[in-house]
Amino acid sequence: MPIIFHEETGQFHLFNKDVSYVMELKEQFLVHAYWGERIRSFTQSDTYPKKDRSSFSPNPYRTNDATFSLDNVLQEFPGFDSGDYREPAFEMTYSDGTKATQFQYASHTIYSGKKRLDGLPATYVMEDDEAETLEITLADNIRGIHATLSYTIYRDRSAITKSVQYQNMSEHTIQLNRALSSCVDFDDAAFDLLQLPGAWAREKQIVKTPLAMGIHVLDSKRGASSTHQQPFIALLRKNTTEHHGDVYGFHFVYSGNFTIRTEVDTFSQTRVLVGMNSHNFGWQLEPNAIFQTPEVVLVYAKNGLNDMSHTFHSLYTERLARGEHKLQERPVLINNWESTYFQFDEQKLLHLADGAKALGAELFVLDDGWFEARNDDTTSLGDWVADCKKLPSGLANLSSQIHERGLKFGLWFEPEMISEQSQLFQAHPDWHIHVNGYPTSLGRNQLVLDFSRQEVRTEIVRQMTEILDAVPIDYIKWDMNRNMTEIGSRDLTPQQQMELPHRYMLGLYEVIDYLTERYPHILFENCSGGGGRFDPGMAYYMPQSWASDNTDAIERIKIQYGTSLIFPPVMICAQLSEIPNHQVGRITPLQTRANVAMSANFGIMLDLNKESQETLDAVQQDITWYKKHRQLIQFGRFSRLISPYESNFASWSFTASNQEESLVFFFKILGAASEPFLRLQLRDLNPEYMYAIGDTTYSGEELMKFGLYLNPDMSGDFQSKVLHLKRLVTKM
Ligand code: DGJ
Repeated sequence: MPIIFHEETGQFHLFNKDVSYVMELKEQFLVHAYWGERIRSFTQSDTYPKKDRSSFSPNPYRTNDATFSLDNVLQEFPGFDSGDYREPAFEMTYSDGTKATQFQYASHTIYSGKKRLDGLPATYVMEDDEAETLEITLADNIRGIHATLSYTIYRDRSAITKSVQYQNMSEHTIQLNRALSSCVDFDDAAFDLLQLPGAWAREKQIVKTPLAMGIHVLDSKRGASSTHQQPFIALLRKNTTEHHGDVYGFHFVYSGNFTIRTEVDTFSQTRVLVGMNSHNFGWQLEPNAIFQTPEVVLVYAKNGLNDMSHTFHSLYTERLARGEHKLQERPVLINNWESTYFQFDEQKLLHLADGAKALGAELFVLDDGWFEARNDDTTSLGDWVADCKKLPSGLANLSSQIHERGLKFGLWFEPEMISEQSQLFQAHPDWHIHVNGYPTSLGRNQLVLDFSRQEVRTEIVRQMTEILDAVPIDYIKWDMNRNMTEIGSRDLTPQQQMELPHRYMLGLYEVIDYLTERYPHILFENCSGGGGRFDPGMAYYMPQSWASDNTDAIERIKIQYGTSLIFPPVMICAQLSEIPNHQVGRITPLQTRANVAMSANFGIMLDLNKESQETLDAVQQDITWYKKHRQLIQFGRFSRLISPYESNFASWSFTASNQEESLVFFFKILGAASEPFLRLQLRDLNPEYMYAIGDTTYSGEELMKFGLYLNPDMSGDFQSKVLHLKRLVTKM
């Protein structure tokens, strides 16, 4: 079994064939010893050198051993005001107004499988023998607080998950001010830090910087994980590439405010803390009450970034996403947003649907603007009733007309929002998040409904189920277009006000859980003005996400490349849109636009009336091609081959698990004179197999070790090509 506790040494060793994670009890404190490539026998019983580093590093009172200080040992759950001056994993205020906390080992259990986290998204197991879980309970008996640290290690994945549960064992309320989910201490700092910051329409850009002395904080205070940051970092050993080097990935399974703090101390030790942000956070933990933190997924990879991504991809496809769609091929859709925006009527939509059907699309998605007088973005959010001017025969009729055409029908919602100009606001002017008597900022002219309140959630669910019960709907695009401000909730006491952002997330998760369970056949797509809440928390409920409002193919290369670090192509939605592109004004050849969009979960966002017959014919061929290959694209092994962040090119491939087939996508961004020839070495093939590319035959070994020259015949800006490799059944 992959978790062992050695009584004599007090050592916990979590392992599988690829990874080891080791902790030890020192003086009843839980210290960290090692995380990295599997070590079969880890016998060293005194891993951390004992040394009196200075009288300024305090020694725990009970031990009073000058060679042991919490200030410099590697810790698993560093405390507050008890001798470690680095960043703490938690902070609480007790009834006497003080904060000092010193947790020590109390007990532990080891069991097969993995428990679900009540009310929170998390990775899971289907069978208990897929994983083993260790729960270590730490206690501060003077304060009367317990913290149970959970560690799950998967048998066949290089992934470990961590979370913490606090329990108040005292007779007084304890105020939680910081409650992080994971701490990992490394004994050195020779790392680069990779993060995925962005902005609206520029999501998940790869930024890599050397780790520096001091505290580095990467976070969201927006009430959502946000476009600005992804709750993810990777620490890379120096000179790590896509294919080589040690990588330590951390991804937080949560969609609200988060913090990822790295601290390099004066002894060049690195602490990585991940969890909910303490900004606008506080929790009144009543006697006996429990507080559960969301979980963090830790991935160790010894062969570079692709290796890390492969672990995230398979874990998220198989054991994060849920429901009947998770392993099903996703339909090619047409979405009306960029072709109509708010200006449409039934005729226009049906015309678009006819055109889409003729091209081979399978799902028609009606975007924003279909409900109650929603002619621009100033009104009607909260009134989920079809607009009788645009859709005089109603939604059900539209749905059946779409279905009669042989298309599935999808609908846009933005359930968490309310417009001031809406019936819902007139009836309930205090249902949004706000501070009483204080003006509330607007964002896209709208306010955020207070989903921490049961009555608010009930009403939105009522409106949505009324539609979903009456109208056959196959897909929902769940949008969310603004962040929180002026945090306040009518139902919470003054002491509880800072609970609102987390209570909101719990409320949101409850609503989505309910709807996805009640309508299992509906394919939910997560959207937040593009990728503004594209995180593992949402991926638990919705198996695909709109990656960005930026549909420009060239910008999308970088966005999708960055997104693919953590999410598999089947979770990433991309659509072929018109030129000049609506977000950046660029004119890109059709085939390149299609090749970028077909590298993920493919759809189109074209005004088919405006396109030439030649374009329509080409799009039809692309859709046919995509359907033929989508099993491979959506569920094959995805590897990044050339980074657009480092060159004028980008490339990635999709390879079947039996290695019989592969698709290689290659993009050249700008035309260039006297350009060096680029030889691209392929990946994931079987060196023993022979592959055909068109009429030419190559060995897998040759394609991976030597490669192919791909750029000499390409001229002009924004060019691309796709190679289809098929195994020839003759051995070398
Ligand atoms: C933002 C989304 O990302 C877009 O695709 C579109 O659905 C608009 N909202 C509609 O308001």
